[in-house]
Amino acid sequence: MSMSKSLLNAFPTEAEASADGMRPPKLHQRQILIDGELKAWTGPVRSVFSAICARGENGSLEQIELGSYPIGGLADAEQALAAAVAAYDDGRGEWPTMTVAQRISCMQNFTKQMVAKRDEIVRLIMWEIGKTLSDSQKEFDRTVEYIKATIDALKQLDNTNSRFLLVEGTIGQIRRTPLGVVLCMGPYNYPLNETFATLIPALIMGNTMVFKPPKFGVLLFVPLLEALKSAFPKGVINTVYGKGAEIVPMLLESGKVNVLTLIGSSKVADHLKKMHPKINRLRAILGLDAKNAAIILADADIELAVKECVLGALSFNGQRCTALKILLVHRLIADKFVQRFAEEVSKLKAGMPWESGVTITPLPELGKVDYMTRMIEDASSKGAKVINEGGGSLSGTLFYPAVVYPVSEGMMLYREEQFGPIVPIMPFDDIKTALDYVVTSEHGQQVSVFTQDSGTVGKLVDQLVNQVCRVNINCQCQRGPDVFAFTGRKDSAEGTLSVTDALRSFSIRSMIAAKQTDSSKKLLDNIINDHTSNFIHTGFIF
Ligand code: G3H
Repeated sequence: MSMSKSLLNAFPTEAEASADGMRPPKLHQRQILIDGELKAWTGPVRSVFSAICARGENGSLEQIELGSYPIGGLADAEQALAAAVAAYDDGRGEWPTMTVAQRISCMQNFTKQMVAKRDEIVRLIMWEIGKTLSDSQKEFDRTVEYIKATIDALKQLDNTNSRFLLVEGTIGQIRRTPLGVVLCMGPYNYPLNETFATLIPALIMGNTMVFKPPKFGVLLFVPLLEALKSAFPKGVINTVYGKGAEIVPMLLESGKVNVLTLIGSSKVADHLKKMHPKINRLRAILGLDAKNAAIILADADIELAVKECVLGALSFNGQRCTALKILLVHRLIADKFVQRFAEEVSKLKAGMPWESGVTITPLPELGKVDYMTRMIEDASSKGAKVINEGGGSLSGTLFYPAVVYPVSEGMMLYREEQFGPIVPIMPFDDIKTALDYVVTSEHGQQVSVFTQDSGTVGKLVDQLVNQVCRVNINCQCQRGPDVFAFTGRKDSAEGTLSVTDALRSFSIRSMIAAKQTDSSKKLLDNIINDHTSNFIHTGFIF
C-alpha cells in the first residue's frame, strides 16, 4: 500500500472519531470575558475545524468541526482595552496596588479551578491542534507546574525585597512593580503552555491584560473563562477574538498598551511594535522565529546523534520553535548518518493523536501542507532528494516526514523555517562551513553540537554562545527545564522567559528612599506597624 493510502486510512470515519477519539462535545463559545463579566455574544462567529479529518466512504477527507467562537470587531477590542486600562487606572487600580500575597492568593484560586478542567482542556488541545494525547497532557501539567513555580519564585523575590537597605545615609526599599496594560498573544503549537508562560507572570506582577487566543487552539480557553473571571478583580483580564490584522493595530496605535508579548513571527512583531505612537514606552517580550541547527562532527556518536536529532526535528511534527530545523553533518559520516536517520524516521508511526505509539499526527493548518510540498519540490529541483521511503507523502492534514539530502545554500530549506515535518540535511567538509551557517543566520536561538572531543566542543562552545543563547551538547534543542533562561539573539527573541526571568520581564524595579533621620525612621516604623502601605512592609510570604 502506498504511504498516501495508509495515511488516508489512518483517519477515522465520523463514527470511529466519536467512539475512540475522546472527541470533545461541540463547543460553541458565545461569551467573551470583558471587565469582569462573561458577556453574551450575539455577533458573527467563526467555525473551528480540527486538525483531524473524518474519512468518508469514498475516501474523501473533511476536517471535523469542533464548534465556533466569536469574531470580535474593533468595538469589542476597544471595550477590552478600556477595561484593562480602567483596571490598571494608571497604577492606582486594585490589582496593581494589591499586596503580592493577595495576588498570589488569587492565582492559587485560579490554578485550583484550572486543574479541575484538566481533561476537558487536554481533549481540546488534542483535537484542535492534533497534538498527541500524552503531549497534550504534558502541556497541561507542565503549565500547572509553571504556575506553581512562578508563585514560589515570586514569594522568594518579594521576601528578599521585604527588607530595607541603609546606604550612605539613605534608607531604601526596592520592589518590583507592574508596567501597565499587557497585550498577550500566544502561539498555536503550545497554545496553553506558551501563552501562559507570558500571561501568568504578567498577571501576577500586577499588570492588567488584553488576551488574544492563538489562531488554532482557541476553544481550549473556554473552560477557563469562568476561572479567569472569578479569580481576579474585574477588568484585570479581558479577551479579544477576531481578525488580528484588524484588531491588533488599533490596540497598539492607541498608545495604551505598555507591553507587547507575543510568541510568533519576527516580521509581525517588527511591524506591530512600530505602530505604537511612543515606541520607547512599549516593552516587548517576544519569542520569535528560529532555525536551530545541529552540527554533527566526524567523531560524533552516530546512534546518539540520530536519536536526539529525530526527537529534536520531529517531536510534535517539527512544530516547535526549538525544533532542529537543519542538520549539518560532517561529510565523513554523512552517508552513514543519513542512512541511520532515515531508518529511524521510517519507524515513526503516523496516526491519530489518541493512539498509543503515534508520533506523526495531523497538522492544524491545511495550507501548511502545501508549503511543505513546495519546499520539497524546490529542493528536488536544485539537486536534493527525499531519501526516506514515503517521505513527503500526504493525505489531508497528515504529512509524512521527509528527510531531504543533500541540502545546500539557495534552497528554501536552507534558511526558511519549515515549522513542520521536513528534515533538511546538509553535509560539510570544514567546521568553518557549519559555523558560518550559524553566524550568517538571521536567527540566534539555540544550536546542538554532537562530538566526543572535549577540545573541539570547548572551542566551538566559546564561539557559539555568542551566536545563540543555548548550546546543547550531544542533545537536542529544547526550552526546558523551565527554570532555565529561554531567549534568543537576532530575530529569535526579545527579552528572556524562564520562571524567574519572566517575573522580571513583566515588571520594573521601583523604590522608596528616605534620609536616615530620626523622623524618617519613626515614619517608616509607623507605616510598617500600622500596615498603611502594601509596598512598604517587612512581611514574609510563607
Ligand atoms: O515552540 C517553542 C516551545 O517553547 C518549545 O518548547 O522545547 O519544550 O518543546 P519545548
